[in-house]
Amino acid sequence: MHINPTLPKKILAWYDNSKRDLPWRVGKKSPKKLYYRLLSEFMLQQTQVKTVIPYFINFTKKYKTLKALSKSNEKDILKMWEGLGYYRRARNLLACSKELVIKYKSKLPKTLLEIKKLPGVGEYTANALFGLIYNRPTIAVDGNVKRVFTRIINIDEAKINFNKFIEKNKKKLFTTSRNADFVEALMEFGALICKPKNPNCLTCCLKKTCKYFKSNKKIPGFKSKMIKNRNFDIFCYINKKKQIALTKKSQISFLKNFNLPEIKETNSFSKNKNWKFLKNYKNSISNLRLNINLYYKFSNKIPPTYNWYSLKENKEFVPSFTKKIFRQVSSLF
Ligand code: ADE
Repeated sequence: MHINPTLPKKILAWYDNSKRDLPWRVGKKSPKKLYYRLLSEFMLQQTQVKTVIPYFINFTKKYKTLKALSKSNEKDILKMWEGLGYYRRARNLLACSKELVIKYKSKLPKTLLEIKKLPGVGEYTANALFGLIYNRPTIAVDGNVKRVFTRIINIDEAKINFNKFIEKNKKKLFTTSRNADFVEALMEFGALICKPKNPNCLTCCLKKTCKYFKSNKKIPGFKSKMIKNRNFDIFCYINKKKQIALTKKSQISFLKNFNLPEIKETNSFSKNKNWKFLKNYKNSISNLRLNINLYYKFSNKIPPTYNWYSLKENKEFVPSFTKKIFRQVSSLF
């Protein structure tokens, strides 16, 4: 379970030669550092670098500083976030920027404990910011970093307690003064060299001490996500004005806070007498494969918690899950 003490210097040397030029990587003294790091780390939760780049550029063109972002509103932020998914991140980002500006005078709090209390900041993001902003000796354990460590010791990821592993190896991990660079270099190394499939072992700077490289029995180094199939019936009230009735009451975890028609999880193809069947279609959300049966009913009366929305208007922010429903229902007109 022990790592070689040359690891940080080797990874940092590789990083200096091979790192990508990413728009949030500004100089140590840049006044934009906190804002850029906060925004990029929120965007990079659950999303790949290449997807994030154009959103990051757009965002920082519109909101030039943390203060400017903090004075914005949810509707505008959600519009900028459209297509990036996991919209809770956008709401948390706004709340977090407000708290930083108002409570902490536009600075990151000094302790990890306080950083973790900020909206939308979990274990990973707190450590990333603590390391990147204050050059503190810490590691932000994301999927990339887990894979690098998993490979170096060639042990199944599920069997490693990463916090314990880091604590045990801290004298070997924090041997340089470049803690901020090391946080980032580990992630970068996982993304570019120690890749999930086809890692670049032959050119890797750690191959001499890597147990995965040397072993005849290589442990995969990534967990394949459990794909889950789920069936849903969706019931849409529509009217002749090309409107659809949506409610805010979705109790389904991955759709929370969305305005939606009535949705019921089912075990199989069910019969719904009072509704007309429109279409069966599939939709994927992260590891979920949704099998959806869409039903409709023309009606002028809707239950009290519903509101009419135009199927045509696209001014408001509409997540892709809802857009798909709109598209199917629009085919009736
Ligand atoms: N993933 C999350 N944060 C990252 C960063 N700063 N660099 C590269 N990949 C990342």
